[in-house]
Amino acid sequence: MHILNLFVNIIIGDDMRKILITGARSGMIFPVIQKLKKNNYLYVTVHTSSELKYVKKLYENDENVECLKLDMTEDIDLLDDLDIDILVCNGAIAESGSLFEMPISKLKQNFDVNVFANVALVQKVSKKMLEKGYGRIVIISSLTSKMPLPFLGSYSSSKAALSVCGLCLHYESLLLPKRIDVVLVEPGLYRTGFNKLAFDKKYEFMDNKSFFDKHTQLIRKSENIYLWLFEKRRLNSIKNKICEAITADKPHFRYSAPFSHNLIAKIFNLLH
Ligand SMILES: NC(=O)c1ccc[n+]([C@@H]2O[C@H](COP(=O)([O-])OP(=O)(O)OC[C@H]3O[C@@H](n4cnc5c(N)ncnc54)[C@H](OP(=O)(O)O)[C@@H]3O)[C@@H](O)[C@H]2O)c1
Repeated sequence: MHILNLFVNIIIGDDMRKILITGARSGMIFPVIQKLKKNNYLYVTVHTSSELKYVKKLYENDENVECLKLDMTEDIDLLDDLDIDILVCNGAIAESGSLFEMPISKLKQNFDVNVFANVALVQKVSKKMLEKGYGRIVIISSLTSKMPLPFLGSYSSSKAALSVCGLCLHYESLLLPKRIDVVLVEPGLYRTGFNKLAFDKKYEFMDNKSFFDKHTQLIRKSENIYLWLFEKRRLNSIKNKICEAITADKPHFRYSAPFSHNLIAKIFNLLH
């Protein structure tokens, strides 16, 4: 066993679950961290060095929280030295713009982070989980995987691919010699800043040469109204589902919240 892991195990005891969360600077995972840090050992990992400074300060008094920089596309070898019981794949990016004209580099970047980096992380941790005899992988996808939005095709399709990866991993896990739970969480719209940033990104390249230049104002207005109407301001419902996905003894495969958005997505799927 790596010396760092031995040290962590001695300090926290073997019975505490060791949970690694990606993209854990803030957003909907913040209240989850607040709830779980009392009874678990958390690796709170963030995208950049400046975010690392921020979270180190934020959690300086929490002895169960260890903050690390983990860019999912660059730093996954870091996981070689960690003992992880539960991996929470939370980090993501959202590129927007019409698939008719958005730069392919942005589409690729979206899939690099949301799909390929997550599968690479799963492969990294699952080998060790099998050796230990148990593990859990919680994948935060999105309801947009079921109900894609125009001008958000890049993000929606990356989350659809991620949800399908999650389902395949779940089926495959049933045949593994040791128990690895694969659990999918599909949130609806919550106000964390993530959606507004995503919607606005496309205006960087949707200039007067865009196929949609005559409609830009209308699209912008409709999106603002859509977010104002549907984004949930309170994170409680999704916090509870993510916590259940992480801690339930016998988790379901799929969790979603809020109820109303899940219902709308189901109706949408029946109609298409
Ligand atoms: N908010 C919603 O309505 C909503 C709905 C459905 C699903 N989700 C999903 O919920 C999860 C959390 O989203 P959120 O709304 O709470 O927003 P958030 O706080 O912005 O979460 C996304 C995090 O991922 C990080 N990230 C991006 N690229 C990364 C990389 N290469 N390596 C490591 N981390 C990276 C971001 O860091 P930077 O900011 O530095 O890039 C950010 O901290 C995401 O998977 C998102 O797709 C959100």
